[in-house]
Amino acid sequence: MSALNDATRGRLLFGGDYNPEQWPAEVWHDDIRLMREAGVNIATVGVFSWATLEPTPGAREFSWLDSVLGLLDEAGIGVCLATPTASPPPWLGARHPETLPRDENGTVVWYGSRNQFCPSSPVYREHAAAIAQAVADRYGSHPALRMWHVGNEYCTSCWCDESARHFRRWLRARYDTLDALNEAWGTAFWSQRYSEWDEIIPPRRAQYLINPTQLLDFRRFTSDALMECFTAERDIVTAASPGVPVTTNFMPLFAGLDGWRWAAEESAVSVDIYPDPAAGPDEPAGAAYGALVQDLTRSQAGGPWALMEQAASGVSWRPVNRPKPPGLMRLWSLQAVARGADALCFFQWRQSRQGSEKFHSAMLPHSGEHSRVHREIRALGAELDALAPVTGTRVPADIAILHDWPAWWASEQPGRPSTDLSYPDVLAAWHHALWRRNLTTDLAHPEADLSRYRMVVVPQLYLLTDAALDNLAAWVHDGGVLVCGFFTGVADADDRVRPGGMDARLRRVLGLAAVHEWCPLPTGGTVALTDGTAGTLWSEDVEPAGATTHAAYAEGDLAGRPAITRHRHGEGTAWYVSTLPGADALGDLLAGTAADAGVEPVLPGAPAGVEAVRRGPLLFVLNHTAEPATVAVPEPCTDLLTGARHEAEITVEGRGVAVLRP
Ligand code: GAL
Repeated sequence: MSALNDATRGRLLFGGDYNPEQWPAEVWHDDIRLMREAGVNIATVGVFSWATLEPTPGAREFSWLDSVLGLLDEAGIGVCLATPTASPPPWLGARHPETLPRDENGTVVWYGSRNQFCPSSPVYREHAAAIAQAVADRYGSHPALRMWHVGNEYCTSCWCDESARHFRRWLRARYDTLDALNEAWGTAFWSQRYSEWDEIIPPRRAQYLINPTQLLDFRRFTSDALMECFTAERDIVTAASPGVPVTTNFMPLFAGLDGWRWAAEESAVSVDIYPDPAAGPDEPAGAAYGALVQDLTRSQAGGPWALMEQAASGVSWRPVNRPKPPGLMRLWSLQAVARGADALCFFQWRQSRQGSEKFHSAMLPHSGEHSRVHREIRALGAELDALAPVTGTRVPADIAILHDWPAWWASEQPGRPSTDLSYPDVLAAWHHALWRRNLTTDLAHPEADLSRYRMVVVPQLYLLTDAALDNLAAWVHDGGVLVCGFFTGVADADDRVRPGGMDARLRRVLGLAAVHEWCPLPTGGTVALTDGTAGTLWSEDVEPAGATTHAAYAEGDLAGRPAITRHRHGEGTAWYVSTLPGADALGDLLAGTAADAGVEPVLPGAPAGVEAVRRGPLLFVLNHTAEPATVAVPEPCTDLLTGARHEAEITVEGRGVAVLRP
């Protein structure tokens, strides 16, 4: 359960990463004054402070942080205090080179940047625990402390000898015997059989394709190894301040961590989101991407979540970094609130003058408090009191999209039918089709209890466990509406292909005899379907056994074969979509299946580009276009942001937002 309520205390959190160690102390007073004037009530402090706190091994320099926390506290600004362990000081790598990670080639990844630690290194872990303990001892009861922020965007992988030993321990725990490992990894192929545990190594650079199950297990292992680093520090800060929420900020839709397993270890879930301001209002990389990450994070949290980082304007890591035009920062911030965020934070408070991110925007830019960006920040801060009633409330969703990390990992390895197949792109395409119709979705683990959903959508889960298949089959049998995308249910948990090209349980649900062949389309190619639409990316030679054909392939080698099928299974209905329809066609299909499942869009008839989401008692209407949009409202209501009353319809400015209460 999210403990975020303990941090918000009934008001949305608003603030950002604050790095006072980059500035002389005189500037801190200015920071605090400007934060207060901007409505900031939380500052994330200490994320990259290790070398300042421990400038030489074992030294402790806390006086500056005492002052900063004291100033924030006097100003009534809460602190989200970080353990500074994401970026070890150079002395750790210089004195203990074994703490530095090595890549697949055995090359050392040096200090001089950040994140240079081997997650398996006992020496790194010992030093990280010591500095985390020191921070926790000193500030665990500090009155300004609202939340703990452990590490930062855990993401490191390492292929060194220490990691190899750790990987072997992890594999022994998973398989128990070497025979079981050989069986699971299919080592009869290419003479890969292991005769001793010590022969096993991480998937280092090799002559040709590496064993896929070894790769898959290494991803599982890496996620778990990093999670051990997180939980060790989590336990330290929790012991020092029981009840204070603990989070670590996830990267958005990040492949490196198993996000379901990680979220279960957090008392508050947070994420960093950086949609591309250059993307048009209906392009997947813009607002739609934000919505997907927001829905995923809310689902990981099981309730309210924290937007730990976003950009006030442009970032500095894209090839071309476009600023956010006027209104977009507010629009995307309120979109996050609409989709469940109880904290709106930014990277970072004051724009750096030095270092690798000096061109990354901030709440307080180089040009200061009179800048357009800072004025927009102040205006947003001033609005948030009006949104206090939203804090702690839920976003209802009748549709779940099934998503899982091992399926992502397994489906993107080399040696697959098409390297054009990108798991996150397919996931985003299906989510986008639902989002632009204002059909609110959760994301769910394939083994989760699905009973509260009316429709379940599986964009593409190549790997499904036995438990997931049983779960899904029982849920459809009991009356659920399932829409299942291509290349799903192909492999078991060891990445072993199931007979028939798809698991027999799933074929029974879908009414299929077999998937005879996967037929990816040529790059950029499309295939016409008999309903007048076209498929992209993929096609399959599917043999029905009970399913009826909703649309068939209309051209090419598969002409006349089913493309989209429908099947009654028990009390439920199961659709199979063996290609990737275009956005409109997929949206039409999903809107139809949703209607069959009794699910209506929020605000039916809203014009294109207008997002509508319900959260608690409120209806958010977000206009992603640059032009005003008029929408009919379901009942007379008041806009919390303006106080205006609307009887039958409301006009929302371009990039504007209305938050309506009946
Ligand atoms: C995040 C990171 C921040 C900062 C930001 C820039 O990934 O946590 O420290 O680098 O990106 O966009």
